[in-house]
Amino acid sequence: MKALVVYYSQTGNTERMAENIIRTLEDRGVEVETVSIERSEEKSYDTNVKGAKKRVKADIEPTKTNLRSYNLLCIGAPVWSSAPATPVNGYLARCSGVDGTKILCFASHGGGGPGDTFEIMKEKLEEKGGEVIETVALSSQRVSFEEGKKETREAVEKLLDKVSS
Ligand SMILES: Cc1cc2nc3c(=O)[nH]c(=O)nc-3n(C[C@H](O)[C@H](O)[C@H](O)COP(=O)(O)O)c2cc1C
Repeated sequence: MKALVVYYSQTGNTERMAENIIRTLEDRGVEVETVSIERSEEKSYDTNVKGAKKRVKADIEPTKTNLRSYNLLCIGAPVWSSAPATPVNGYLARCSGVDGTKILCFASHGGGGPGDTFEIMKEKLEEKGGEVIETVALSSQRVSFEEGKKETREAVEKLLDKVSS
């Protein structure tokens, strides 16, 4: 089984969730590749807040977007304005080959919860035939705590159980 873990992280919280997901998958014998989405141009906090509200698809550096060779996709976003960070919108607009792929969406936030983040990600992925079957959101404080790590691991385990059943 082959998985791709894709995420954008500006300050490291979503990246920590991704690292935990990668470890959990590898512990279960899954072959994992990783894409860290890089934004083409940094913008101000205010521009990012407004952009996320308007569902802007930020320009990103060229990266792997054809996902046909993966059985599983785990895709993560920081929550901006109760929505995905705009570079993740950029990635979601560009990716292909997710038809029938089982997907885990993950997100980190500042304490306000995921808001519409998962609904927006889900809509984009399902338009392309992907099946979002698990989600996990953690506040930035809980990302590094054992309890938060456990919640993330459990979401991965549930994804794997659903894929193999
Ligand atoms: C532009 C911007 C908008 C944000 N909007 C929200 C929000 O609506 N709700 C929330 O709980 N946290 C919000 N945050 C906090 C981030 O979601 C949080 O710090 C997250 O863990 C950052 O992930 P990262 O370290 O991977 O970049 C916002 C942060 C930024 C930079």
